[in-house]
Amino acid sequence: MAQMEWAGRKVLVTGANRGIGRAIVLALAELGAVVLATGRDTVALERVAQEARGQVQTFAVDLAAPAGAASVVDWVAARHGDIGGLINNAALQQELWFPNGATSRAIETEITVNLTAPSQLVAGLLPLLGRHEAPFICNVTSALALTPKASAPVYCATKAGLRSFTCALRYQVRRDMTHLLVNETVMPLVATGMTEGRNVATISPKAAAEALIAGLGKGRDETWIGQTRAFRVIHRAAPGLAARILRDG
Ligand SMILES: NC(=O)c1ccc[n+]([C@@H]2O[C@H](COP(=O)([O-])OP(=O)(O)OC[C@H]3O[C@@H](n4cnc5c(N)ncnc54)[C@H](OP(=O)(O)O)[C@@H]3O)[C@@H](O)[C@H]2O)c1
Repeated sequence: MAQMEWAGRKVLVTGANRGIGRAIVLALAELGAVVLATGRDTVALERVAQEARGQVQTFAVDLAAPAGAASVVDWVAARHGDIGGLINNAALQQELWFPNGATSRAIETEITVNLTAPSQLVAGLLPLLGRHEAPFICNVTSALALTPKASAPVYCATKAGLRSFTCALRYQVRRDMTHLLVNETVMPLVATGMTEGRNVATISPKAAAEALIAGLGKGRDETWIGQTRAFRVIHRAAPGLAARILRDG
């Protein structure tokens, strides 16, 4: 595959106001992409847009809301008509202990943001992506997509679901949209709000964003970042050991 051209490419990023999403926005803007940055926190989103050395357009959305993903699709269709990339980065991870700690609402919100909205964004934006000469979809997952931890059953289920969805989508587009790259980026532990307060080794959001972008640049179906590369080998060779490593994390 030819080197990914970033200059002028419109890329939609969800969860763009902080953490890894913010770092992706800053890195893409620096490369000359036109970043369509979405998030709930409008003040933080505008701050990221001002910080960026490049073009960033913002759209406020709560992806847990019933029409959240649809409103993003409408915005892109009305303002842009076509895009060259979608990065499904937004997610939340809740510690849920069943049955008492896991309310229906908490379960529904986590599934909607982490799995339903990314699938809906793919469905709605595929026609607009198809107009680009070399578009991509990037879904951000985790080693917890391979084997779960006890404390976050719904999060782990959504990441396993997103991994499976991404693979099946890749099979589908190989039939009639061969110019579309469908990438899964598997994140290691990254120093963001999601890992705050946990005594674990992490990489910076900037390093994570750069590795994600490098994987897309190389046209990879799957990008395994940092420690996830070794974990993938362990999971293949000794699944029981891999399960024990993540179980109590
Ligand atoms: N950090 C890690 O160690 C790690 C490891 C493996 C995978 N990942 C994955 O990497 C991605 C980014 O994670 P992160 O560490 O950057 O997390 P983060 O710092 O907690 O940021 C999560 C982002 O998702 C957004 N989000 C959450 N709920 C939303 C909603 N209802 N509507 C719209 N946006 C919403 C947040 O927006 P608000 O500010 O509005 O909440 C925020 O921008 C996620 O897919 C995560 O699963 C992270």
